[in-house]
Amino acid sequence: MPKPLEKLKNGIALTKEDFLWILEKQEEKGFRETLQEYALQLRKKNFGNTIYIRGLIEISNYCKNNCYYCGIRRENSSIHRYRLEEDTILSCVAEGYALGFRTFVLQGGEDPYYTDERLCSILKKIKQNHPDCAITLSLGERSKDSYLALFQAGADRYLLRHETATESHYGMLHPEQMSWQNRIRCLQQLKEIGYQVGCGFMVGSPFQTKEHLANDLLFLQQFRPHMVGIGPFIPQGQTPFGQYAGGTVEQTLFLLSLIRILLPQVLLPATTALGSLEVGGREKGILAGANVVMPNLSPKEARENYTLYDNKLSTGLENAHSLQALQESMKAIGYEIVIDRGDAPGVLEQQKR
Ligand code: 5AD
Repeated sequence: MPKPLEKLKNGIALTKEDFLWILEKQEEKGFRETLQEYALQLRKKNFGNTIYIRGLIEISNYCKNNCYYCGIRRENSSIHRYRLEEDTILSCVAEGYALGFRTFVLQGGEDPYYTDERLCSILKKIKQNHPDCAITLSLGERSKDSYLALFQAGADRYLLRHETATESHYGMLHPEQMSWQNRIRCLQQLKEIGYQVGCGFMVGSPFQTKEHLANDLLFLQQFRPHMVGIGPFIPQGQTPFGQYAGGTVEQTLFLLSLIRILLPQVLLPATTALGSLEVGGREKGILAGANVVMPNLSPKEARENYTLYDNKLSTGLENAHSLQALQESMKAIGYEIVIDRGDAPGVLEQQKR
Protein backbone atom coordinates (compact mmCIF):
# COMPACT_ATOMS: atom_id res chain seq x y z
CA MET A 1 0.00 0.00 0.00
CA PRO A 2 1.29 3.51 -0.77
CA LYS A 3 2.86 5.17 2.24
CA PRO A 4 0.44 8.07 2.90
CA LEU A 5 -2.53 5.68 2.91
CA GLU A 6 -0.73 3.29 5.18
CA LYS A 7 -0.07 6.14 7.61
CA LEU A 8 -3.68 7.25 7.39
CA LYS A 9 -4.92 3.76 8.19
CA ASN A 10 -2.54 3.32 11.08
CA GLY A 11 -3.29 6.66 12.67
CA ILE A 12 0.23 7.97 12.01
CA ALA A 13 0.46 11.71 11.46
CA LEU A 14 0.63 12.71 7.81
CA THR A 15 2.84 15.44 6.44
CA LYS A 16 1.71 18.17 4.09
CA GLU A 17 3.35 16.26 1.22
CA ASP A 18 1.33 13.16 2.17
CA PHE A 19 -1.91 15.10 2.01
CA LEU A 20 -0.89 16.69 -1.28
CA TRP A 21 -0.13 13.25 -2.69
CA ILE A 22 -3.61 12.04 -1.70
CA LEU A 23 -5.26 15.14 -3.15
CA GLU A 24 -3.38 14.64 -6.42
CA LYS A 25 -4.40 10.98 -6.60
CA GLN A 26 -8.01 12.01 -6.47
CA GLU A 27 -8.30 12.08 -10.24
CA GLU A 28 -6.86 8.60 -10.66
CA LYS A 29 -9.34 5.91 -11.55
CA GLY A 30 -10.49 3.81 -8.61
CA PHE A 31 -8.75 5.87 -5.95
CA ARG A 32 -11.88 7.64 -4.72
CA GLU A 33 -13.69 4.36 -4.45
CA THR A 34 -10.91 2.78 -2.39
CA LEU A 35 -10.96 5.72 -0.03
CA GLN A 36 -14.74 5.72 0.22
CA GLU A 37 -14.85 2.02 0.97
CA TYR A 38 -12.43 2.41 3.84
CA ALA A 39 -14.25 5.48 5.15
CA LEU A 40 -17.47 3.49 5.27
CA GLN A 41 -15.80 0.62 7.11
CA LEU A 42 -14.61 3.05 9.78
CA ARG A 43 -17.96 4.76 9.95
CA LYS A 44 -19.63 1.39 10.46
CA LYS A 45 -17.17 0.36 13.15
CA ASN A 46 -17.68 3.57 15.12
CA PHE A 47 -21.33 4.39 14.51
CA GLY A 48 -22.97 1.36 12.89
CA ASN A 49 -25.68 2.53 10.52
CA THR A 50 -26.76 5.34 12.84
CA ILE A 51 -27.43 8.88 11.68
CA TYR A 52 -27.74 11.72 14.14
CA ILE A 53 -30.09 14.59 13.44
CA ARG A 54 -29.68 18.18 14.60
CA GLY A 55 -32.53 20.64 14.51
CA LEU A 56 -31.18 23.80 12.90
CA ILE A 57 -32.71 27.10 13.99
CA GLU A 58 -31.48 30.13 12.07
CA ILE A 59 -31.99 32.80 14.69
CA SER A 60 -30.84 35.90 12.79
CA ASN A 61 -29.55 36.95 9.39
CA TYR A 62 -28.18 40.27 10.63
CA CYS A 63 -24.41 40.21 10.47
CA LYS A 64 -21.80 42.79 11.27
CA ASN A 65 -19.25 41.07 9.06
CA ASN A 66 -18.77 41.47 5.35
CA CYS A 67 -17.28 38.16 4.15
CA TYR A 68 -16.95 38.25 0.37
CA TYR A 69 -18.64 34.86 -0.15
CA CYS A 70 -21.60 35.13 2.17
CA GLY A 71 -25.12 36.14 1.22
CA ILE A 72 -25.96 37.62 4.62
CA ARG A 73 -22.90 39.91 4.63
CA ARG A 74 -23.50 43.38 6.02
CA GLU A 75 -23.42 45.15 2.67
CA ASN A 76 -26.01 42.98 1.01
CA SER A 77 -28.91 45.41 1.06
CA SER A 78 -31.16 43.27 -1.10
CA ILE A 79 -32.16 40.78 1.56
CA HIS A 80 -34.87 41.13 4.15
CA ARG A 81 -33.33 41.02 7.62
CA TYR A 82 -35.01 39.22 10.51
CA ARG A 83 -34.22 37.97 13.96
CA LEU A 84 -36.12 35.50 16.12
CA GLU A 85 -37.25 36.41 19.60
CA GLU A 86 -36.85 34.11 22.57
CA ASP A 87 -40.44 32.84 22.48
CA THR A 88 -40.17 31.89 18.82
CA ILE A 89 -36.89 30.04 19.40
CA LEU A 90 -38.37 28.18 22.37
CA SER A 91 -41.37 27.09 20.36
CA CYS A 92 -39.16 25.89 17.48
CA VAL A 93 -37.25 23.81 20.01
CA ALA A 94 -40.46 22.41 21.52
CA GLU A 95 -41.74 21.44 18.08
CA GLY A 96 -38.45 19.80 17.25
CA TYR A 97 -38.41 17.95 20.55
CA ALA A 98 -41.84 16.51 19.83
CA LEU A 99 -40.53 15.29 16.46
CA GLY A 100 -37.60 13.48 18.10
CA PHE A 101 -34.76 16.01 17.95
CA ARG A 102 -32.38 15.96 20.94
CA THR A 103 -29.82 18.46 19.65
CA PHE A 104 -30.62 21.99 18.60
CA VAL A 105 -28.27 24.23 16.70
CA LEU A 106 -28.81 27.96 17.15
CA GLN A 107 -27.10 29.50 14.16
CA GLY A 108 -26.94 33.09 13.04
CA GLY A 109 -24.91 35.95 11.69
CA GLU A 110 -22.81 38.00 14.10
CA ASP A 111 -25.74 40.03 15.38
CA PRO A 112 -24.94 42.28 18.35
CA TYR A 113 -28.60 42.08 19.39
CA TYR A 114 -27.81 38.68 20.89
CA THR A 115 -25.99 39.81 23.97
CA ASP A 116 -24.78 37.25 26.49
CA GLU A 117 -27.73 38.16 28.65
CA ARG A 118 -30.30 37.41 25.95
CA LEU A 119 -28.55 34.21 24.87
CA CYS A 120 -28.04 32.92 28.42
CA SER A 121 -31.73 33.40 29.12
CA ILE A 122 -32.63 31.39 25.99
CA LEU A 123 -30.12 28.65 26.82
CA LYS A 124 -31.32 28.26 30.40
CA LYS A 125 -34.95 28.01 29.31
CA ILE A 126 -34.19 25.39 26.66
CA LYS A 127 -32.31 23.33 29.25
CA GLN A 128 -35.12 23.76 31.79
CA ASN A 129 -37.73 22.65 29.29
CA HIS A 130 -35.67 19.82 27.80
CA PRO A 131 -32.88 18.71 30.15
CA ASP A 132 -32.02 15.74 27.96
CA CYS A 133 -31.08 17.88 24.96
CA ALA A 134 -27.75 19.19 23.74
CA ILE A 135 -27.43 22.74 22.49
CA THR A 136 -25.00 23.74 19.79
CA LEU A 137 -24.23 27.37 19.07
CA SER A 138 -23.01 28.70 15.75
CA LEU A 139 -22.84 32.44 16.23
CA GLY A 140 -19.39 33.35 15.09
CA GLU A 141 -16.55 35.07 16.90
CA ARG A 142 -17.16 36.29 20.46
CA SER A 143 -14.94 36.99 23.44
CA LYS A 144 -13.65 34.21 25.67
CA ASP A 145 -15.74 35.57 28.53
CA SER A 146 -18.80 35.39 26.34
CA TYR A 147 -18.07 31.80 25.29
CA LEU A 148 -17.62 30.92 28.95
CA ALA A 149 -20.89 32.55 30.04
CA LEU A 150 -22.78 30.73 27.29
CA PHE A 151 -21.17 27.42 28.24
CA GLN A 152 -22.12 27.92 31.86
CA ALA A 153 -25.69 28.74 30.82
CA GLY A 154 -25.99 25.37 29.10
CA ALA A 155 -24.40 25.44 25.64
CA ASP A 156 -22.66 22.12 24.98
CA ARG A 157 -21.12 22.55 21.55
CA TYR A 158 -19.93 25.32 19.27
CA LEU A 159 -19.49 25.37 15.52
CA LEU A 160 -17.08 27.88 14.07
CA ARG A 161 -15.70 27.01 10.68
CA HIS A 162 -12.10 28.07 10.35
CA GLU A 163 -12.94 28.66 6.64
CA THR A 164 -9.32 28.10 5.55
CA ALA A 165 -6.21 27.13 7.49
CA THR A 166 -4.01 29.30 5.27
CA GLU A 167 -3.74 32.84 6.56
CA SER A 168 -3.10 34.40 3.13
CA HIS A 169 -6.12 32.58 1.67
CA TYR A 170 -8.24 33.77 4.61
CA GLY A 171 -7.25 37.29 3.62
CA MET A 172 -8.63 36.76 0.10
CA LEU A 173 -12.02 35.64 1.41
CA HIS A 174 -12.50 38.27 4.10
CA PRO A 175 -12.15 42.03 4.44
CA GLU A 176 -9.20 43.40 6.34
CA GLN A 177 -11.12 43.85 9.59
CA MET A 178 -11.33 40.09 10.00
CA SER A 179 -8.39 38.17 11.28
CA TRP A 180 -7.44 34.55 10.77
CA GLN A 181 -5.43 34.68 13.99
CA ASN A 182 -8.50 35.62 15.95
CA ARG A 183 -10.55 32.90 14.29
CA ILE A 184 -8.06 30.26 15.37
CA ARG A 185 -7.79 31.80 18.84
CA CYS A 186 -11.58 31.53 19.21
CA LEU A 187 -11.46 27.83 18.31
CA GLN A 188 -8.75 27.20 20.86
CA GLN A 189 -10.64 29.08 23.56
CA LEU A 190 -13.81 27.13 22.87
CA LYS A 191 -11.89 23.91 23.32
CA GLU A 192 -10.23 25.10 26.52
CA ILE A 193 -13.62 25.99 28.01
CA GLY A 194 -14.85 22.46 27.40
CA TYR A 195 -17.16 22.78 24.43
CA GLN A 196 -17.39 20.01 21.87
CA VAL A 197 -15.99 22.04 19.01
CA GLY A 198 -16.63 21.97 15.30
CA CYS A 199 -14.53 23.65 12.64
CA GLY A 200 -14.62 23.35 8.87
CA PHE A 201 -14.29 24.97 5.49
CA MET A 202 -15.92 25.48 2.13
CA VAL A 203 -14.88 23.16 -0.68
CA GLY A 204 -13.95 25.02 -3.85
CA SER A 205 -13.98 28.48 -2.32
CA PRO A 206 -12.48 31.15 -4.60
CA PHE A 207 -8.68 30.90 -5.00
CA GLN A 208 -8.55 27.60 -3.09
CA THR A 209 -5.64 25.37 -4.17
CA LYS A 210 -4.66 21.82 -3.27
CA GLU A 211 -2.04 23.29 -1.02
CA HIS A 212 -4.70 25.19 0.91
CA LEU A 213 -6.68 21.97 1.27
CA ALA A 214 -3.58 20.15 2.49
CA ASN A 215 -3.21 22.86 5.14
CA ASP A 216 -6.86 22.39 6.11
CA LEU A 217 -6.31 18.67 6.56
CA LEU A 218 -3.13 19.28 8.56
CA PHE A 219 -5.09 21.66 10.75
CA LEU A 220 -7.83 19.07 11.36
CA GLN A 221 -5.20 16.45 12.18
CA GLN A 222 -3.60 18.70 14.74
CA PHE A 223 -6.66 20.45 16.22
CA ARG A 224 -8.73 17.26 16.48
CA PRO A 225 -12.19 18.83 16.48
CA HIS A 226 -15.24 16.84 17.62
CA MET A 227 -17.14 17.93 14.53
CA VAL A 228 -16.19 19.01 11.02
CA GLY A 229 -18.54 20.93 8.76
CA ILE A 230 -17.60 21.03 5.10
CA GLY A 231 -19.74 21.86 2.11
CA PRO A 232 -19.26 23.15 -1.42
CA PHE A 233 -18.91 26.88 -1.95
CA ILE A 234 -22.03 28.05 -3.79
CA PRO A 235 -21.95 31.56 -5.24
CA GLN A 236 -24.56 34.04 -4.06
CA GLY A 237 -25.46 36.59 -6.72
CA GLN A 238 -25.34 39.70 -4.55
CA THR A 239 -21.86 39.10 -3.14
CA PRO A 240 -18.44 40.04 -4.57
CA PHE A 241 -17.96 36.33 -5.37
CA GLY A 242 -21.33 36.03 -7.09
CA GLN A 243 -19.74 35.23 -10.46
CA TYR A 244 -17.07 32.81 -9.24
CA ALA A 245 -17.24 29.07 -9.86
CA GLY A 246 -18.66 26.93 -7.08
CA GLY A 247 -17.28 23.78 -5.46
CA THR A 248 -18.29 20.35 -6.72
CA VAL A 249 -20.18 17.46 -5.18
CA GLU A 250 -17.35 15.08 -6.15
CA GLN A 251 -14.63 17.00 -4.38
CA THR A 252 -16.80 17.39 -1.29
CA LEU A 253 -17.49 13.66 -1.17
CA PHE A 254 -13.82 12.85 -1.57
CA LEU A 255 -12.93 15.14 1.32
CA LEU A 256 -15.72 13.73 3.50
CA SER A 257 -14.23 10.25 3.05
CA LEU A 258 -10.74 11.50 3.74
CA ILE A 259 -11.84 13.30 6.92
CA ARG A 260 -13.70 10.20 8.13
CA ILE A 261 -10.45 8.21 7.81
CA LEU A 262 -8.35 10.95 9.38
CA LEU A 263 -10.70 11.36 12.37
CA PRO A 264 -12.70 8.11 12.55
CA GLN A 265 -14.92 9.22 15.45
CA VAL A 266 -15.66 12.70 14.23
CA LEU A 267 -19.22 13.95 13.83
CA LEU A 268 -19.48 14.77 10.18
CA PRO A 269 -22.59 16.34 8.71
CA ALA A 270 -23.80 15.90 5.16
CA THR A 271 -24.46 19.62 4.90
CA THR A 272 -27.35 21.57 3.43
CA ALA A 273 -24.97 23.06 0.84
CA LEU A 274 -24.22 19.54 -0.43
CA GLY A 275 -27.94 18.77 -0.60
CA SER A 276 -28.55 22.08 -2.35
CA LEU A 277 -26.13 21.39 -5.16
CA GLU A 278 -27.63 18.10 -6.21
CA VAL A 279 -30.78 16.10 -5.55
CA GLY A 280 -29.69 13.25 -3.31
CA GLY A 281 -26.47 15.12 -2.39
CA ARG A 282 -26.93 14.56 1.32
CA GLU A 283 -27.49 10.84 0.80
CA LYS A 284 -24.26 10.73 -1.21
CA GLY A 285 -22.59 12.51 1.71
CA ILE A 286 -23.74 9.78 4.09
CA LEU A 287 -22.43 7.17 1.66
CA ALA A 288 -19.06 8.94 1.63
CA GLY A 289 -18.73 8.69 5.43
CA ALA A 290 -20.85 11.48 6.94
CA ASN A 291 -23.06 10.59 9.93
CA VAL A 292 -25.08 13.70 10.74
CA VAL A 293 -27.89 15.60 9.01
CA MET A 294 -29.20 18.95 10.10
CA PRO A 295 -32.80 19.53 9.04
CA ASN A 296 -34.09 23.06 9.29
CA LEU A 297 -36.54 23.83 12.09
CA SER A 298 -36.59 27.57 11.48
CA PRO A 299 -39.92 29.30 10.86
CA LYS A 300 -40.70 29.90 7.17
CA GLU A 301 -39.72 33.57 7.20
CA ALA A 302 -36.32 32.73 8.61
CA ARG A 303 -35.72 29.90 6.19
CA GLU A 304 -36.54 32.07 3.22
CA ASN A 305 -34.20 34.84 4.27
CA TYR A 306 -31.22 32.94 5.66
CA THR A 307 -29.69 32.96 2.21
CA LEU A 308 -25.98 32.27 2.59
CA TYR A 309 -25.96 31.19 -1.07
CA ASP A 310 -28.34 30.86 -4.02
CA ASN A 311 -30.85 28.00 -4.42
CA LYS A 312 -30.49 26.82 -0.84
CA LEU A 313 -32.27 23.56 -0.14
CA SER A 314 -35.26 24.24 2.06
CA THR A 315 -36.05 21.15 4.04
CA GLY A 316 -38.66 22.75 6.23
CA LEU A 317 -39.95 20.43 8.88
CA GLU A 318 -43.28 22.09 9.43
CA ASN A 319 -44.74 18.71 10.08
CA ALA A 320 -43.74 15.26 11.13
CA HIS A 321 -44.28 14.15 7.56
CA SER A 322 -41.05 15.66 6.18
CA LEU A 323 -38.96 14.11 8.94
CA GLN A 324 -40.53 10.83 7.97
CA ALA A 325 -39.52 11.47 4.35
CA LEU A 326 -35.94 12.05 5.48
CA GLN A 327 -36.06 8.89 7.58
CA GLU A 328 -37.25 6.98 4.56
CA SER A 329 -34.60 8.37 2.22
CA MET A 330 -31.91 7.37 4.73
CA LYS A 331 -33.48 3.96 5.25
CA ALA A 332 -33.44 3.44 1.49
CA ILE A 333 -29.63 3.69 1.54
CA GLY A 334 -29.34 1.47 4.62
CA TYR A 335 -29.12 4.01 7.44
CA GLU A 336 -31.25 4.83 10.45
CA ILE A 337 -31.98 8.16 12.10
CA VAL A 338 -31.93 7.84 15.88
CA ILE A 339 -33.41 9.88 18.72
CA ASP A 340 -30.25 10.70 20.62
CA ARG A 341 -28.13 13.70 21.59
CA GLY A 342 -25.38 12.12 19.52
CA ASP A 343 -22.36 13.39 21.43
CA ALA A 344 -18.89 12.77 20.06
CA PRO A 345 -17.80 9.30 21.25
CA GLY A 346 -16.01 9.41 24.59
CA VAL A 347 -17.01 12.96 25.45
CA LEU A 348 -19.64 12.10 28.06
CA GLU A 349 -17.35 9.58 29.76
CA GLN A 350 -14.64 12.21 29.96
CA GLN A 351 -17.05 14.69 31.54
CA LYS A 352 -18.13 12.21 34.23
CA ARG A 353 -14.57 11.74 35.40
N1 5AD B 1 -21.49 28.87 -0.09
C1 5AD B 1 -21.32 27.84 0.76
N2 5AD B 1 -21.16 28.00 2.07
C2 5AD B 1 -21.20 29.24 2.57
N3 5AD B 1 -21.05 29.71 3.80
C3 5AD B 1 -21.19 31.04 3.78
N4 5AD B 1 -21.39 31.47 2.52
C4 5AD B 1 -21.41 30.36 1.74
C5 5AD B 1 -21.54 30.13 0.36
N5 5AD B 1 -21.73 31.14 -0.50
C6 5AD B 1 -20.69 28.85 4.92
C7 5AD B 1 -19.45 29.37 5.64
C8 5AD B 1 -19.97 29.69 7.04
C9 5AD B 1 -21.19 28.83 7.14
C10 5AD B 1 -22.21 29.31 8.12
O1 5AD B 1 -21.73 28.83 5.85
O2 5AD B 1 -18.46 28.36 5.70
O3 5AD B 1 -19.06 29.40 8.05
